Amino acid sequence: MKFFIDTANLDQIREAQALGVLNGVTTNPSLMAKEGIKGEENILQHYKTICEIVKGGDISAEVISTTFNEMVAEGKKLAALHPQIVVKVPMIKDGIKAIKHFTELGIKTNCTLVFSLGQALLAAKAGATYVSPFIGRLDDVSTDGVSLIAEMVAMYQFYGFKTQVLAASIRHTMHIIDCAKVGADVITAPLSAILGLFNHPLTDLGLEKFLADYKKSQS
Ligand code: E4P
Repeated sequence: MKFFIDTANLDQIREAQALGVLNGVTTNPSLMAKEGIKGEENILQHYKTICEIVKGGDISAEVISTTFNEMVAEGKKLAALHPQIVVKVPMIKDGIKAIKHFTELGIKTNCTLVFSLGQALLAAKAGATYVSPFIGRLDDVSTDGVSLIAEMVAMYQFYGFKTQVLAASIRHTMHIIDCAKVGADVITAPLSAILGLFNHPLTDLGLEKFLADYKKSQS
């Protein structure tokens, strides 16, 4: 299972990278705005900086246009920034057409804003590298997000699609564990949810006792 961090915050990306288990980063226009990144040049530079921090990782950069021709032009510009860039495209008709086009050009894609199995089927048929079901937003409307991940994993396995299921809109640590149980290929999560995986009181107690016993044995 790959671990991506879902943020445009450079400090958090550096902290996650330092853990040694990070495989990539996902951003979106809201996350970029949250960091105060404004203007095309600054946005493009920010993506390049992220690529340099997470060497070898897949970095999703989202298009903000919604028509085929504009998405293709914007996606090509993003892809040309750095070999690690994955062009993130919304799940709309022109988006699926653009994903198919990028696939033919060998440009990696992440189909975003996916909320149903039918949408996931379309993204896979277009050849998307990743598909991003938003499980937290599904949970918000009383629909089980993790069940959609399980259905997608099963469907892709059944038909042999190469598209990777990238569980997105993760809100907490248990979401990561539940996604692991059903075979998600990738999770993208806030740093807090990733750090939560470390926590267990028995680990803390056990380490405290080991260190105390060592200290005693040395006196
Ligand atoms: C990632 O690709 C998505 O943009 C992100 O996970 C959305 O998360 P949210 O529902 O917390 O905004």
